[in-house]
Amino acid sequence: MMSTPVSNRLYHDPELAALYDVDNDWGADLDYCRELARSARSVLDLGCGTGRLIAALAPEWRAVGVDPAEAMLAIARQRPGGALAPWHKGDARNVRLVVMTGHAFQTLLTPEDQLAAMRTIAAHLTPQGRFIFDTRNPAGEEWRDWTPEHSLRTLEDPRLGKLEAWNDVRQDAATGIVTYETHYRVATTGRMISASQSHLRFSEKAELEQLLAEAGLAVDRWLGDWQGHAWTPEAPEIIPLGRLAASAATVTRTASM
Ligand SMILES: C[S@@+](CC[C@H](N)C(=O)[O-])C[C@H]1O[C@@H](n2cnc3c(N)ncnc32)[C@H](O)[C@@H]1O
Repeated sequence: MMSTPVSNRLYHDPELAALYDVDNDWGADLDYCRELARSARSVLDLGCGTGRLIAALAPEWRAVGVDPAEAMLAIARQRPGGALAPWHKGDARNVRLVVMTGHAFQTLLTPEDQLAAMRTIAAHLTPQGRFIFDTRNPAGEEWRDWTPEHSLRTLEDPRLGKLEAWNDVRQDAATGIVTYETHYRVATTGRMISASQSHLRFSEKAELEQLLAEAGLAVDRWLGDWQGHAWTPEAPEIIPLGRLAASAATVTRTASM
């Protein structure tokens, strides 16, 4: 059964969405996908957030961004290059996707929703098409760093000035779901901007393998980070880079003839 997505304030609240780019640097995931895009004619970024990747590609590629959070899309439309790309309000479970960065996959909280997203990929990939997404390796227990003591950081926001930011976290070992809070305090006024109860699922590679096969997807390479290193049990990330499984590709080819 598909679960109803929790409307996460971190992405749906305009004030918090405006802090996303301040708190999240352009990362190796975006570099990697921008490079991958060189060999693709069109790119569909699911869970595109504030649209950094698509806006960077839009002048030269047919690039489309999809995200369920209007507040994130509003930022995407405004950013340099943003006016050149189409942005769609949508959900990973029922729209096309090729690329899913920034651990957007981890916002899918049940195996059913993960499978639905994978089926969406499979349903829309051409036989030559590829997909890639990232999910943090649970072995790294990265959430342990999301306590107030370990996560305290100072940010500089162009509108609000200096901010102190921190998280708080708990993990449910039975489901692999991590629940965390994000807090920002404006240094000059002491005002708090907070998002409570964001949820992320940490999946084991074996679970993903099973779901991907069920969705008709084949993995060419399992990466362990966005530098392109092969996956190992200690790798920080689990990143499948793949395509339609041969049998699914035949069905797609036949259907499009
Ligand atoms: C951590 S942000 C990553 C944004 C972007 N990919 C990046 O790398 O900067 C996660 C994004 O996933 C989106 N999201 C949440 N649920 C989703 C769903 N069911 N389908 C697609 N995107 C979803 C959120 O709205 C948010 O913008």
